[in-house]
Amino acid sequence: MMKRDITEAARRAAELRAEIERHNRLYYAEARPEISDYDFDMLLKELEALEKDFPALMAPDSPTQRVGGAPLSGFESITYSKPMMSLSNVYSKDELRAFDERVRKILGKTAFTYVLEPKIDGVAVSLRYEKGIFTVGGTRGDGRTGDNITANLKTIRSIPLKLHHAGNMPELLEVRGEVYMDRKGFQELNREREEAGLEPFANPRNAAAGSLKQLDSRVAARRPLNAVLYAAGEVRGLVTRSQAELLAQLREFGFPTAPRTWNCSDIEAVLAGLDELEGMRHDFPFEMDGGVIKINEFGLYEELGATAKSPRWAIAYKYEPEQAETVLLGITVQVGRTGVLTPVAELEPVLVAGSTVSRATLHNEEEIARKDIRIGDRVLIEKAGEVIPAVVKVNLDARTGREKKFSMPAQCPVCGEPTVKREAEVARRCINMQCPAQLKNWIRHFGSRDAMDIEGLGVTLTEQLVDRGMVKTPADLYRLKQEDIAELERMGPRSAASLVRAIQESRGQNLWRLIHALGIPHVGAGSARTLAGELHTLDRLMSATANELEAVRDVGAVVAQSITSFFSRRDTRELIARLKDAGVNMESGEDAQAAGTALAGKTFVLTGTLKNQTRNQAVERIRRAGGAVSGSVSKNTDYVVAGESPGSKYEAALKHKVKILDEEAFTVLMEAAEGVQKEPDL
Ligand code: IVH
Repeated sequence: MMKRDITEAARRAAELRAEIERHNRLYYAEARPEISDYDFDMLLKELEALEKDFPALMAPDSPTQRVGGAPLSGFESITYSKPMMSLSNVYSKDELRAFDERVRKILGKTAFTYVLEPKIDGVAVSLRYEKGIFTVGGTRGDGRTGDNITANLKTIRSIPLKLHHAGNMPELLEVRGEVYMDRKGFQELNREREEAGLEPFANPRNAAAGSLKQLDSRVAARRPLNAVLYAAGEVRGLVTRSQAELLAQLREFGFPTAPRTWNCSDIEAVLAGLDELEGMRHDFPFEMDGGVIKINEFGLYEELGATAKSPRWAIAYKYEPEQAETVLLGITVQVGRTGVLTPVAELEPVLVAGSTVSRATLHNEEEIARKDIRIGDRVLIEKAGEVIPAVVKVNLDARTGREKKFSMPAQCPVCGEPTVKREAEVARRCINMQCPAQLKNWIRHFGSRDAMDIEGLGVTLTEQLVDRGMVKTPADLYRLKQEDIAELERMGPRSAASLVRAIQESRGQNLWRLIHALGIPHVGAGSARTLAGELHTLDRLMSATANELEAVRDVGAVVAQSITSFFSRRDTRELIARLKDAGVNMESGEDAQAAGTALAGKTFVLTGTLKNQTRNQAVERIRRAGGAVSGSVSKNTDYVVAGESPGSKYEAALKHKVKILDEEAFTVLMEAAEGVQKEPDL
């Protein structure tokens, strides 16, 4: 990299930080992004590189800090000079009118107005800005003392690390509000958790609280958290006279605030606003459980005072929880992208939270057992704002005795293969990679390092190929054209060309790789090598009987059975025929059979671009000579082969003092290994 002078670097770093924070604000606080995620990542990468080259430029308010840092052993405490209070609740309009009466009685003839805001169901936090820089932030705790969760709060992109302000920065500003996880992020996180066999979070609020309680801020950084700010704590060097003015000021500083608030001249206007707010309940990205009504004029707060735990100048109006009772007609089972089976309640349609609900998630079989849910039961369902409603409990009084217990199917409802439930997981899975429900996974597996090793066929690309219907089986990969791929997100003509090349080159891969890539249940890379080594052609593998297969080393009855049933399927045979047409190698070649031993026990790592051979060719060459290839450098690595513009593996090799070979030295080594059966001295 070109060395820059530090003044120039400092100038660019400041420019990048301002630009990145501006885009953060546009994206997270104002929901009107100007650039793509990719361009945003590029800005961040440039800043990271600058800070790495010039560590003196690191700053606590740099957006690079948002990725999280080293885990803490515990949270420190943080004390608030102005306590974080809570609110008293009312549940009816009459109670709200009574609140207004009390206020008017205290204030006498003094005129006042109200501000109505959504009551966000998140986690209360306080953020401290000293001279405009975010320094510490914490939870409410008991109101006076909370946990210092600064590291986690810094990962939330909508929270400014520095106030956005043209004039003088206030000496001190404590801002208070709510951290939440938006509905979409919550559902995605839960889906990932369920697929990983983890217990899902019950609701977005728990998910947000759990994320903020992480001692490892890198975990919090990956959680889709957001914030809404609505109040001030201790303040020095800034004057605001009303709630409406404060909200405007917070927005000006770059804080996300509620998407809608109401300025109301009297309590009747508040009541009308509450109706309007309730209608918008499901349009907000956060869960809302009511409205907060605040006297607008700060000058009246002292006179109104507070009770032990809540102020008299504000009150929360809570909406009814949204539940309904209906009949559980049946339970169906869905198969997710990673093979997880999810039971789904099929319900007699019922109106909840403004929409008709006919299905609800039952999460997993343990949940069904715990709640003792049976088909035919009358069940209470709840729509906590999330799109997918859940079954809360069974109305046991309504049981007739005719209800039927449910058990998860032993066979996958999509492909019919046996399902498995691993110990320590709550989920039951279909492990058949071929299962149509798992196409994306299968394609990714097909191209993975230990299978056909197609460089560039990553997760996002696979998703796009499958979602657009461009790839329905691995054989479709071989028909992809550069023009089609270049159209996809984050691809251009060059990356498309190299992907097509990598796919085409993979046709020459060793037979064992193809066998592994097919994703036959219970056949891993090891058994694939053995099978290829003993049977030599895919045709022989396809026509082998279970008995013949069991004669192969390490192949037992389960594996043999899995292979024969796999090849007896019509879709498998079609796939093999299409792969054959595409020119995919189906035999282990002479030299592959007679794998050398000159490099036995030696591990290689490749980095950079080789001039005279492709990566795959180099890998095959090493393997033919008995060597192994690994993706990362460790103390067990024997050689790092460094082509042009090597990556971080080169530095890792220096660090672990691993022998580094340039392409020429590698060629000498390989020729010697291929010629003689002993490793030459280098
Ligand atoms: S004002 C002293 N405004 O609800 C009053 N609170 O149940 C400070 N909350 O403690 C709070 N949305 O954590 C206020 N727009 C809003 C709110 C809000 C949610 C939370 C807050 C409060 C709790 C009371």
